[in-house]
Amino acid sequence: MRWPKGLDGLCYGGDYNPEQWPEEVWHEDVRLMREAGVNLVSLGVFSWARLEPAEGVHDFGWLDRVLDLLHEGGIRVNLATPTASPPPWFSLAHPDALTVTAGGSRLTHGSRDTYCVAAPPYRAACARIARALAERYADHPALAMWHVHNEYGTWCHCDHVAAAFRAWLRRRHGALEALNDAWTTAFWSQHYSAWEQVMPPRATQYLPNPSQVLDFRRFLSDEMLDHFREQKAILRELTPDVPVTTNFVFGDWVPVDQWKWAQEVDLVAIDHYPGENPPEETAFAADLARGWARGRPWLLMEQAVVTYTGPRMVAKRPGEITRLSLSHVARGSRGVMFFQWRASRGGAELWHNGMVPHAGPDSRIFREIRDLGALLPTLAEACEAPVTATAAILWDTEAGWALQSPGFPSTEVNYLDAVRQAHRVLYRHGVTADMVHPSADLSSYDLVIVPSLYLVSDETAAGLRRYAETGPGTLLVSFLSGIADEHARIRLGGYPGALRDLLGIRVEEFHPIGDPVTLDTGDTASVWTEHVHLAGAEALARYPDGTPAITRHGRALYLSTRLDDDAYARLLGLGPAVTVETVRRGDRLFVINHGDEEREIPGSLLLPPGGYAVVGIPGGSPAIPPSETM
Ligand code: GAL
Repeated sequence: MRWPKGLDGLCYGGDYNPEQWPEEVWHEDVRLMREAGVNLVSLGVFSWARLEPAEGVHDFGWLDRVLDLLHEGGIRVNLATPTASPPPWFSLAHPDALTVTAGGSRLTHGSRDTYCVAAPPYRAACARIARALAERYADHPALAMWHVHNEYGTWCHCDHVAAAFRAWLRRRHGALEALNDAWTTAFWSQHYSAWEQVMPPRATQYLPNPSQVLDFRRFLSDEMLDHFREQKAILRELTPDVPVTTNFVFGDWVPVDQWKWAQEVDLVAIDHYPGENPPEETAFAADLARGWARGRPWLLMEQAVVTYTGPRMVAKRPGEITRLSLSHVARGSRGVMFFQWRASRGGAELWHNGMVPHAGPDSRIFREIRDLGALLPTLAEACEAPVTATAAILWDTEAGWALQSPGFPSTEVNYLDAVRQAHRVLYRHGVTADMVHPSADLSSYDLVIVPSLYLVSDETAAGLRRYAETGPGTLLVSFLSGIADEHARIRLGGYPGALRDLLGIRVEEFHPIGDPVTLDTGDTASVWTEHVHLAGAEALARYPDGTPAITRHGRALYLSTRLDDDAYARLLGLGPAVTVETVRRGDRLFVINHGDEEREIPGSLLLPPGGYAVVGIPGGSPAIPPSETM
């Protein structure tokens, strides 16, 4: 991890897009930023058309003035390379660099992210603008950090991608016959007799090949990572001391393996936009970011002053911006950043709102932004100790991709849902979890959960066996773990192939279900059931037909179905549900009351509805006294 020099404590700010506004507004911006305690802004994320109005013609004058103004205001800059949104002139000059969908439509400019990451003209143009920016601003005192691109994740299926995919496949598989074997192309007459026949998974008549789809995601992740590395190398050459990062976004559709990427960025940064249940989703995202950062500090690069709930974009309730920000900070973020500083008056995201809303600074939102800016510096000391987590949840991006296998027996099974449930149950019972890579050292955890880890390597299986045999705590493996090898081929001889011995079971058949069934424990099982045979394990719960549903083998539990959250918690023997969020950092406890009722917290303190505190352990003396009602 590298942290920007001279940026002490927690950082605070957001995406700043001043090119939307006349220059007089910039002066008001800096004044309000100072008032709000902003010390870092992400600048120029989508400024390519303004910076390079025609090929090779640069206009840096306006950005010089913005950087100078910010510097005068004592605000540092997280300067972006603007490559996520090429200008219209670029797309018209290089139509081969536009995104092509799986169905073969070539998209056109008019939005953003409409590029092909493998297109040589795009790569060259990205390298040129990154170099021009670094040359211009290498010595600018405001420059704190580089923000490469924005939310990598664009899919493309064009001929450039096809060529790059083949080159990647040659490196991965070596010989064409190895690829044929890995992809089981003997089925459906898919055997390839020349590399040129291999394509990206473009639209086709019926089910695509699952191993091809999985390899394509791996390829996209690596191809985008190359694009990131190219820019990073240029920035490093010209500004060796300035950290380089990019903002991760995650979701089922994102072809980015964050574990791999996290080793390439100087600082893990995430964007987070919660939906239906902001506190739980925030805790999950923050723990995931800390996981990718392998326990080192990371940064919440974007959040909003609104939430997206189903069909609606809703302003966060009074105090909610603060509480969710505190949750990120408590879980390891070295600051709080937003999208965006000032709400746009036009353009595609005019309704997204900002730290300065359409109503201007005389608004509830700006007042809360200002108060949060005053609060954050008081938390810096409490954030020095690492987060204490007693449980680990295995997270593997590739396993999630593999579980999206075309033709899967149930469309209701979802990796993210399984992982989120494990996290949510622990969260609701006051257990802080680390999200860990399957190869992580598990030996310090009291509890390890392996939710639906469909694709498992032999090494991961060995690590889990080691934990079950010698680790200090309980291992819970849930359905659809250990099923496939690295090429998404089934491990034969009974499920879950890689983990049968460890779990002392053998699963003969899968039975996805529509209507839930009741287990002999009274718990409800839904979505997925299995025909489990005991092979050393004992049954803890049985299906109505008497076959085992939940088993125990030594310290290893196996859950062959989806339980509701309460039953899941009972299976893990968790204590009572908690009413406030708590996160321990060394001898401090962050406590956040997301609810509508007053709560008693450690140290016999009362936390008002929506309040928060940082208390010392074990004395319970308040380091940050309980806040007033928010
Ligand atoms: C993020 C993105 C921002 C902005 C924001 C709000 O995903 O990085 O540029 O679009 O969402 O919608």
